[in-house]
Amino acid sequence: MEIIVPIALDERVLGLLVSSGLPVEDLRDGVPRLYAGVEDDGHLIGVVAIEVHDGVGLLRSLAVRPDARGAGLSLALIGAGERLVAQAGIARLFLLTTTAAPLFERCGYVETARSEAPDAIRSTQQFSGMCPSSASFMSKRI
Ligand SMILES: CC(C)(COP(=O)(O)OP(=O)(O)OC[C@H]1O[C@@H](n2cnc3c(N)ncnc32)[C@H](O)[C@@H]1OP(=O)(O)O)[C@@H](O)C(=O)NCCC(=O)NCCS
Repeated sequence: MEIIVPIALDERVLGLLVSSGLPVEDLRDGVPRLYAGVEDDGHLIGVVAIEVHDGVGLLRSLAVRPDARGAGLSLALIGAGERLVAQAGIARLFLLTTTAAPLFERCGYVETARSEAPDAIRSTQQFSGMCPSSASFMSKRI
């Protein structure tokens, strides 16, 4: 079983996110983010990030390298992200996804009205930049 560990944002993380089709433009904006990753043979094969905003978190940047998909790594990464959140004293985690809502439902996330979004989440680039009609807004109490 792969071990998921806290990591820092670096070129490997950016490369995996870009090749997975996920946005990276705002990752150097100074917002505090916690990253967890998993390596195989020295190469990063999975990553997840938690943005920390005023007592709530935004889970984003979940990616697994194509050749490592289908082995349950995303579930393990989501679990690792939730542990980081709990350690940071964050009680509720939010996310937006256009492609993976069923995956997050399996992990206990529920569809959430955008009107329930705390101001801190509403002001994130993820929230304001993603089209409301195509993205699911989800949350989970940790
Ligand atoms: C989404 C992603 C992270 C899944 O990674 P993965 O390690 O292959 O996922 P897992 O193996 O942990 O999948 C666990 C289960 O969820 C299912 N699943 C995976 N991705 C899913 C998706 N997008 N939608 C619905 N179900 C999904 C799997 O089929 C698997 O089900 P099973 O246990 O019944 O076989 C990966 O496909 C990826 O990096 N995609 C590109 C980036 C992306 O879209 N990230 C999500 C942004 S919110």
